[in-house]
This record gives sequence, C-alpha cells and structure tokens, in this order.
Amino acid sequence: MLEKLSKWKSTISSREKNKDIDDINVPRHIAIIMDGNGRWAKLKGLPRVAGHHEGMKVINKIVRKADELGVEILTLYAFSTENWKRPKTEVDYLLKLPERFLNKELPTLIEKNVKVRLMGSIEQLPEHTQRAVTKAMKETENNTGLVLNFALNYGSRYELINAVKDIAKEVESGSMSVEDIDESVISEHLMTAELRDPDLLIRTSGELRLSNFMLWQVAYSEFWFTDVLWPDFNEQHLVEAIAVYQKRARRYGGV
Ligand code: IPE
Ligand code: IPE
Ligand code: MG
Repeated sequence: MLEKLSKWKSTISSREKNKDIDDINVPRHIAIIMDGNGRWAKLKGLPRVAGHHEGMKVINKIVRKADELGVEILTLYAFSTENWKRPKTEVDYLLKLPERFLNKELPTLIEKNVKVRLMGSIEQLPEHTQRAVTKAMKETENNTGLVLNFALNYGSRYELINAVKDIAKEVESGSMSVEDIDESVISEHLMTAELRDPDLLIRTSGELRLSNFMLWQVAYSEFWFTDVLWPDFNEQHLVEAIAVYQKRARRYGGV
C-alpha cells in the first residue's frame, strides 16, 4: 500500500514536471545534432575545447531526461566524417571525450539499463577511443532500456556508399537479384539496421542544415531547430521540442 502510494506520488510529480507533454505520444527515436560548442566558448572568451568539455556534461542530463520520458532510442551526433578537417588539437580533444564520458558514466548507464551503441567507422578512431566504446557496448549489450546510439566518425554519404557496395556484392555473388532491392533492403544495409527511423530530429545552434547526418533515415522525421547552443541546452529544451513535435500532424504523404 505504502509502495503504491509512493509510486503514485512520483508519477504525479513527474507528470507535473512534464505537464507540457503527453506521456503517450513521446517520440520513440530522437536524434540530436549537438552543435554550437565552439561558438559557446568564443562568447565566453574561452578556447573551443572548453565548449566541447561543457557540451559533454549536457549529454548526461539529456540521456537521463530522455530515459525518464520513455524515449526508446537517443542518437547523438558526436563526430562527423568531415570533422577531421579541424585542427589536430581539436580533433584529438574531441576523440578523447567518448572515453572520458564513458569512464565517468558507464556505471550509471549500466544501472539505468541503457544500451550503448555506435554508428560510424570505428577502425579509423584512436585505439583508446575504440577500446572505451567497445567496452561500453559489450558491458551493456544485454540491456533492454534506452538505446544510446553515438554517431562517432559518422557520415551519411559514406554509410550509403558502403550500403550500395554491400548490396552490389550480394547481387554479383547471386545471393540477391536486382529486383529484390527495395526500401527495406537499403535500410537493412545501413548502420541503423535494427533501429527505427528518427521520429524527431533536433539541431542546436541555429544552423538549418543536416551536415551529412542520417540522410536516408530522416525522410519522414519531424525537425526542430533552436538557436540555443549545445552547452546551454537543457531538459526543458528537450521537453519543449517534444511538445512541438506532439502538435505536428505526421502525414507521410497522406491526407
Ligand atoms: C559541435 O560544436 C561539436 C562538434 C561538431 C564535434 P562545434 O564545434 O561545431 O561548434 P561551432 O559550430 O563551431 O559553434
Ligand atoms: C555537425 O556539426 C557535426 C556534429 C555535431 C558532430 P558541424 O559543426 O560539423 O557542422 P557544419 O560544419 O556547421 O555543417
Ligand atoms: Mg558546428
């Protein structure tokens, strides 16, 4: 009885906190282009890496909130295939962050039943980064809660090139015919093979572009852009994005 009462109380208080959104229609897959770290640092007269450090801290808050709201998949764009163009010191710093984040947060992620997943070309990453993410994926592989999907050294065009090559090889070897190629065959050859497409795509920092992110998968996603820079992004912004999403009519070409 007491247990029931406290459960009811906590449900009520979390509803109050999230009164702007409807618990039933929460986007099942949210993808975020976490942008604006450099500009955040510049505004404060700090080096760009200070922005990346601050941005890393935000990830934790957003993962918790997404989990609490019942989101099933959270995809975070952390490093693109084009980000190698940045100065080496910045690239090195960015590629240290997954390890730093996981060293600190992996026990909590395990406790929260979160499953860590990666999409991107892991082989090109520094060994220490590979080790940290492989460990996290292995230690959470049987978890059944929120899927935390990091896009790390990810580029959508690269992903599509590889999918096309793999499909072509299967056709060449005779295991598939050209007529068999349909939407599901393409989806199954992408790095998101077992994930549903994002329902909601968020980009911070005021940029209105995809920057080579999930070009195939966002065909029918709802987009939400904000001028807020990633290090300033918080739980309330996530709730706001979901509230806007819930007011949209997803028609998928219908009426
Ligand atoms: C996002 O912040 C982090 C990554 C792209 C890795 P930026 O570093 O792109 O920040 P801005 O866009 O220069 O402000
Ligand atoms: C996209 O941001 C990549 C990530 C957030 C990891 P960028 O800052 O690299 O994108 P552009 O260069 O402004 O398009
Ligand atoms: Mg940027």
